[in-house]
Amino acid sequence: MPASLIHITGSQPLFFLQSAASSYVMGVHPQGTLCHLHWGPKVSDTAHDDFAALLDIPQRPFSTAVLNAEGKHVPLDILPCEYPTANTGDFAPPAIDIEHADGTRGFRLAYESHRVIPGKPSLPGLPATYVENDNEAATLEITLRDTPSNIAVILRYTVFANHDAIARSVRITNAGTQSATLRRALSAAIDFPDASAHSLDMIHLPGSWARERWLERQPLHSGEQWIASRRGVSSHQHNPFFALASSGAGEDHGEVFGFSLVYSGNHVGGIDVDQYARPRALTGIHPDGFAWRLAPGETFHAPEAVLVYSSRGLGGLSRTYHRLYRERLVRGPWRDRERPVLINNWEATYFEFTEDKLVAIAAGAAKIGCELFVLDDGWFGHRTAPDRALGDWTTNTGKLPNGLLSLVKRINDHGLSFGLWFEPEMVSVKSTLYETHPDWCLHFPGRPRTESRSQLVLDFSRPEVVDNIFAQMEAVISSAPIRYIKWDMNRHLAEIASAALPPERQGETAHRHILGVYALLERLLARFPDLLIEGCSGGGGRFDPGMLHYTPQIWTSDNSDAISRLRIQHGTSLVYPPCTMGAHVSAVPNHQVRRTTTLRTRCHVALAGVFGFELDPNTLGEADLAEVAALTALARKTRHLVRHGDLHRLADPFASDEAAWMLVLPDGSEALVTHVVTVIHANRPGKRLRLRGLTPDTSYRNELNPAEQWRGDFLLNVGLPVKYEADFGSVLWYLRRV
Ligand code: DGJ
Repeated sequence: MPASLIHITGSQPLFFLQSAASSYVMGVHPQGTLCHLHWGPKVSDTAHDDFAALLDIPQRPFSTAVLNAEGKHVPLDILPCEYPTANTGDFAPPAIDIEHADGTRGFRLAYESHRVIPGKPSLPGLPATYVENDNEAATLEITLRDTPSNIAVILRYTVFANHDAIARSVRITNAGTQSATLRRALSAAIDFPDASAHSLDMIHLPGSWARERWLERQPLHSGEQWIASRRGVSSHQHNPFFALASSGAGEDHGEVFGFSLVYSGNHVGGIDVDQYARPRALTGIHPDGFAWRLAPGETFHAPEAVLVYSSRGLGGLSRTYHRLYRERLVRGPWRDRERPVLINNWEATYFEFTEDKLVAIAAGAAKIGCELFVLDDGWFGHRTAPDRALGDWTTNTGKLPNGLLSLVKRINDHGLSFGLWFEPEMVSVKSTLYETHPDWCLHFPGRPRTESRSQLVLDFSRPEVVDNIFAQMEAVISSAPIRYIKWDMNRHLAEIASAALPPERQGETAHRHILGVYALLERLLARFPDLLIEGCSGGGGRFDPGMLHYTPQIWTSDNSDAISRLRIQHGTSLVYPPCTMGAHVSAVPNHQVRRTTTLRTRCHVALAGVFGFELDPNTLGEADLAEVAALTALARKTRHLVRHGDLHRLADPFASDEAAWMLVLPDGSEALVTHVVTVIHANRPGKRLRLRGLTPDTSYRNELNPAEQWRGDFLLNVGLPVKYEADFGSVLWYLRRV
C-alpha cells in the first residue's frame, strides 16, 4: 500500500487524504463529531495544529448545542459535519435520517474507530471504481456510532495513487436489538467553509430525450439548489453529477469540485447555503419513496460517490474523471480494446425489415469499412410494433423465417460480426411473459398500471424475474455468434411496488430493482466475458457511471444530428470519456430535428466518440460512399486517440456559434482537432485555435493535408488558423509529430 496516501495524526485524530495534487482533511471534534476541515489544494499533514484549531467553533445566537465532557457548549448546527444527521440540532439537509422502532426520528453519530485498508474493497452488488493491485490505492474506514440505537455508520474513503480523485461510500449496520428504517442514506456530504458560498457556481447536466446533458451553470444563492431523479433511473432529465466552480473558472483555470454518483436509479444532488453562507453539498439515492428496513444484524450499502477537485478548471476536472472512469470504472476485456465501427439498422428500417434487407445493409456497410452489424428492435416474439412482445426473447420467425443463426452467418460472410438489441427490464402487456406472470411487473395491487410506450417495467427486485430474463437472454446469445448487445430501456418507473415484498419493505423496491439490473449485467458478463454491451435508454437516458461499469459504451442520444450533438457531446464530456460515447452518422434530413448537414460534418462530429452508423449505406451515391469510406478508414486509424487521448474543449457550443475540441495523446505525439461552425456571420475575422498538450519544440504535420505543417509552440501559443466555410461546416486536422 502506498504509504503517502493517508496520514492520521494525533490522539483526537485528524485524517489527511493526500492524492496527487489535492488534500481532503477531517478531524474529530472533542465532542466526538467527525468534522470536515478541508478539500482542495494540497496541504502538508504537518499542519496538524492549524487544522485542530479549526475545530474550536464558537457558540452563536440561536444555535443548538450540547455539553461536551468539559462542560463546554458545542454548537451542533454550525459544526462542519462530515456525515450530517437529522433532527438532533443540525438544521441543514442531512445525509442520514433513521426512523427508530418507536417511530421517532433522530440520530447522533460519534467517532468510534478507524482503520486503513490496502487497495480498495468492492461494494457488494454495486458498481464502483476498482483497483487491480493493492498498490494502486489505500482506503480509510471511519466508524461512527449512534449509541442509543447501536447503529454504526462506516464511512469509506479511497485515495488513488494514480488518479487525483477520492471515492466515498457508506455502509450502515444495525448492531442493535430493534429494527430501524433508513429514510435517507446519502453517499457523501461536504460542508464547505463560509466565505466561498457566493463566489461559487453550481454546474450540472439537465436535459430531455434527444437533448441530453445540456450544461447549465448558476451562481449559488441562499437556500437549496437540487438536481434530482424520481424516475427510477438516472434519467435524461438530470445526470447524477454536479460541480461547484469558482465563479471565474473556465476550461483551463479556476477551482472546480466535482460530485459524480456511481448509480443508475433515483438520485439527488445539490447544495444548501445556510445563514452563515456556508454551502453544504450532498449526493446520493433520492430519499423520496426510499425506506430501507434494517433488521438487527442487517447492513445497507449506499452507492459510491467519486469526488474530484481540480485547480485547472473544467478541463482538468474532466480529464481526471475520464482517465479514472476509462481505466478503473469500465472493466472487462473491452476496457482495453479498440471498439468496432458498428452499423445499426434502427433508423434504416425501424420495424420493417427482412433477412435479405438486413443482409443488404450489412453488405453495404462492409464496403464502407464497418466491422459490426447491430440488429435493433423488432427481431423477437411477435414484435411488429412498439406495443407488443417485450419479454418474449425468442426469434420473430415471421420476420426471420430462417432463424437468427442463418442471418448471423450471412452477416458474418460479409466480414462483419453481429450484435443484437434487448430491452431486458421491460414487458409488453401483449406478450406471453405478461400473460403468464401478470404480477411480475412493478404495480400496486388493484390499481391501474401506468404504461409508457405501451410497456410495463419488470420487477427486478425479484430474483425469479431476473432468473427468467437471464435464461432467455442466455439461450439467444449462445444460439449464434453474438458479440455485442445493445441494452435499451425505454420508459421510466411508476407504481414502484413489488408483489414479493412485505408492506414494511415496499420502500426498498426502487433500489432493489436497480440491484437486480446490476445483478443481471453481472451474470451476463460472467457467462459471456467477451460480450461487448452498449448501454442505452431512449438514447442517453441512463448515461451514468453505474452503467459504465458494465457497459463500456453508451448510446449518447437518439439525436444524431451533427449540430445537436455538439452540445450533447460537449455536456456529456464534462464527466464521461469520449471512448464511452456512442456517436453515429445518420441520414439527412435528420430523423429527430429534420436538419440537413453534410456527410463530412456528421462524420467529423461522430469521430469524437465511438464511431458508427445509423443509416442504410445503399442509399448513398458514389461520391458519398467514397467520402464515407475514407472517413471510416480515418476513424479506424484514429480511434486510439478516442481511447487514450486527453480531451481539450477549445470552443463552447453553449456560449458561441461554434464548437471545437481536440484529442491529444498524453505524450503529445498525435492529435485530432475538430472545429464546427453552426452559424456563419458576415465579415467575421479569422480565428486561431490555441491547441493544448502538444510538444512545443517540434513540428506537426496535418496527415489529412501534408502540405500543412506547424511548430508545436506556434500551435500552442499563437494557434491553428481556422477559416469559416459555411453554416454547419467543419474542419478536421490529424496532427502528427514530424
Ligand atoms: C430507443 C433507442 O435509443 C433507439 O436507438 C432504438 O434502439 C429504439 N429505442 C428501439 O425501440
